[in-house]
Amino acid sequence: MNKLVLYGIIFVVALVGATFAILDANGAMAQGKDVMGQLAIFGAVAIAAISTFVIIKYIRQMQYDTATGELADENWDGIGEYKNELPFGWAVIFLGLTIWGMWYFLIGYPVNAYSQIGEYNKEVAIHNAEFEAKHANMDAATLKDMGQSVFIVQCAPCHGLQADGMDGKAANLNHRIEKASIVHTIKNGANNMKTDFAGGMPPMMLSDDADIDAVANYIVDGFPDGNSTGATAFVNGGCTGCHGNQGEGIPYVGPKLNGFDIAMVSSVLKDGKKSSIGTMPAFKNLTNIQTKAVAAYVSSLSK
Ligand code: HEC
Ligand code: HEC
Repeated sequence: MNKLVLYGIIFVVALVGATFAILDANGAMAQGKDVMGQLAIFGAVAIAAISTFVIIKYIRQMQYDTATGELADENWDGIGEYKNELPFGWAVIFLGLTIWGMWYFLIGYPVNAYSQIGEYNKEVAIHNAEFEAKHANMDAATLKDMGQSVFIVQCAPCHGLQADGMDGKAANLNHRIEKASIVHTIKNGANNMKTDFAGGMPPMMLSDDADIDAVANYIVDGFPDGNSTGATAFVNGGCTGCHGNQGEGIPYVGPKLNGFDIAMVSSVLKDGKKSSIGTMPAFKNLTNIQTKAVAAYVSSLSK
């Protein structure tokens, strides 16, 4: 049998070698031509031919051969069985078929050479490129309209058609942020929007509960002028260093707190957001234009 295994290996190497040699000779690897079908049929025909000759040989042999060898213990109504090895020819056919089958599956038609998902993704990518090109220069009003359509389909299931967060299921986007969320963020810190605000926000910039409460009110009230406790704590707590003097946000450092802007919303879309209310999934399937559009729509809600 060891010799057979060796033959099997040689057969495989020859098949694979021939496959690549023929592919290369035709330059098909570069051009993506399909000669695999012909090769597979060639292999199948070869095996069929070998099988035919082997069968003919054994049928002839059966006509004149007499049985020899050691008998097995079992017998069925007097019909016994010799303990002979598998005839060489059968073994060749068996191995040949097995190896050819594996070659056909793995190399002849690589398992991932074609997939419906791959084709679908390709078509979506082409469509998205056309979509991006077509809508590259939209005016603000059209951008917002597109954003509203995206919102109704993608976001309303959680945020509601009125973007009111459906009784706390998701964030209410008609105002920037809830007091409870602010308190939660100050106490726990946050690092959701890794794409645009990689540094995140450290926890406990303020430790005094009264200060935290005052700052939260100050932010919810929209950063009113004057020397309130909240305004002072916002400066003393180091908040201005990342969020700007009036919470207007600093690019790549801290998001805008006195309203939504495109940077803030698109970072939430890219990275998702997990905080006191719940978890918002990332929206990686939106194109750049769609992200910009829905961000423009959300930004327009709280003004
Ligand atoms: C599966 C439900 C779900 C969907 C769908 C969803 N969101 Fe959210 N979103 C949430 C939750 C929950 C939060 C609150 C996370 C937190 O801060 O606890 C949130 C938060 C947000 C925030 C941040 C609000 C803030 O003040 O911090 C924005 C902006 C936002 N979503 C926009 C969108 C947009 C735009 C879409 C559609 C493309 C969308 N969301 C789709 C659940 C969802
Ligand atoms: C080191 C910079 C930094 C400092 C200092 C900082 N923040 Fe932040 N803050 C951030 C970043 C970055 C985020 C976005 C976190 C994320 O990615 O989820 C954030 C998020 C927030 C949010 C949540 C916004 C949302 O939509 O959920 C609030 C509220 C906030 N900060 C308030 C404050 C207050 C109040 C202070 C001062 C006590 C402060 N921050 C200090 C960087 C900072």
